[in-house]
Amino acid sequence: MQTNENTNREARQSLHGNWSSRLAFIMAVTGSAVGLGNIWKFPYMAGQNGGGAFVLVYLLFVFLIGMPVMMSEILIGRRGRRNPIATMKLLGQEEGDSERWKWVGVMAVSAGVLILSYYSVIAGWTIAYVPKAIFGEFAGSDAQSISLLFDNFVSNPYSVIFAHTLFMIINFIIIASGVKGLEKAVKFLMPGLLLLLFVLFAYSLTSGSFMDGVRFMFTPDFNALNWDGVLTAMGLACFTLSIGMGAIMAYGAYLPQETSITNATVSVVFADTSIAMLAGLVIFPLVFANGLNPGEGPDLVFKTLPLVFGQMQVGTFLATIFFVLLSFAALTSALGLMEPAVAWMVESTQYNRKQSAATIAFIIWFLGLGTALSFNSLSEFTFLQGTIYENVDFLTSNIMLPLGAVFTTIFAAWIMSQNSTSEELDGHGFVYKSWQFLAKYFSPIAILIIFLQAIGWI
Ligand code: TRP
Repeated sequence: MQTNENTNREARQSLHGNWSSRLAFIMAVTGSAVGLGNIWKFPYMAGQNGGGAFVLVYLLFVFLIGMPVMMSEILIGRRGRRNPIATMKLLGQEEGDSERWKWVGVMAVSAGVLILSYYSVIAGWTIAYVPKAIFGEFAGSDAQSISLLFDNFVSNPYSVIFAHTLFMIINFIIIASGVKGLEKAVKFLMPGLLLLLFVLFAYSLTSGSFMDGVRFMFTPDFNALNWDGVLTAMGLACFTLSIGMGAIMAYGAYLPQETSITNATVSVVFADTSIAMLAGLVIFPLVFANGLNPGEGPDLVFKTLPLVFGQMQVGTFLATIFFVLLSFAALTSALGLMEPAVAWMVESTQYNRKQSAATIAFIIWFLGLGTALSFNSLSEFTFLQGTIYENVDFLTSNIMLPLGAVFTTIFAAWIMSQNSTSEELDGHGFVYKSWQFLAKYFSPIAILIIFLQAIGWI
């Protein structure tokens, strides 16, 4: 196996071709990273965990853990040029270790399935808000009636399940028939979402409570943050960056050899983080201007943004566009969450792409029922972390993604030879040394300590 490694690597081509340009890769990874995580999850989690300290810790994790992990994932993906399970197996052998590394790939694929099961339910809420926006249901409403609108919607299991089903069907159709058209559309839709966020931002700047929002987000009060909060911030950093579950590895498999992994990582992390911050800066001033509770939970975004739209002149129009764009952002992320499982099934069973996509979509849909019911019929049914939704979220974001991240960095920094990694990361300079330090020592140790603290072992 250890014959001329370089010849092997250069001859190795992805079965699905390569990205047409560096920008295409960055757009694709950013498209997967930017989603409900930035606009729905980040604000509500920051709100639940007291703001400032949580945001600060989140940012530290994005840079100190997120960047080295993302670089590791891309470099592993590009070297293996296969699906995550096959790549881990191949590189495990090639680097003289064991093919058992494929289990990291297996965990990654499972994490995607589990995450999508609840992601789809929330994406369903987003879709369901499109007709509400079109029919002007937010117009002129106050905080109370906007809250009521949401509570009424979500307390009806049928409407929530209907929206979840619709989202999974759209997902299935696109995954089964190829993503080309969607990718083209996303190139216009993503900038559109950003533009609309800026419009909302301009509004929140003038809402009178802008500085309260800024203070809440950026003044760290470490008493408001316990180790569970730190673990949540770490899980959220992995979640918004789409790392720890092989997705970025799969994208890296199509990256041309000459593209700089470091530059690509910096661009993606910068874009993803700015959008999360922007969403926070839109939402928290509104929370304070309207006397709402920042710790409201998963419904925070759905109870604040419609409020602004309701007060704007062209609110009905903007609200419609906003929820359409957010649905698209959720859709591109959902495709990224589902693709690893589908790719694996196509490659390892006798089922074709359509059959595989249908099977996986059905499993995800079924699992998602638990989350859909967590907000109504089964809201009283709690164990361990709380509702079914809270448990699936905790298991995936706070346990599986950080574990995936640890194994990825350990593999890249300890198992792979310096020759291999420095070849992918262009040499032995400062960037390489920093990556190596963070990936070798900092990330695994930090993640381990946070785990142990959160479960109360140290
Ligand atoms: N990053 C996505 C978001 O913020 C969610 C996500 C997590 C994801 N892991 C992923 C998307 C893998 C695509 C692929 O909404």
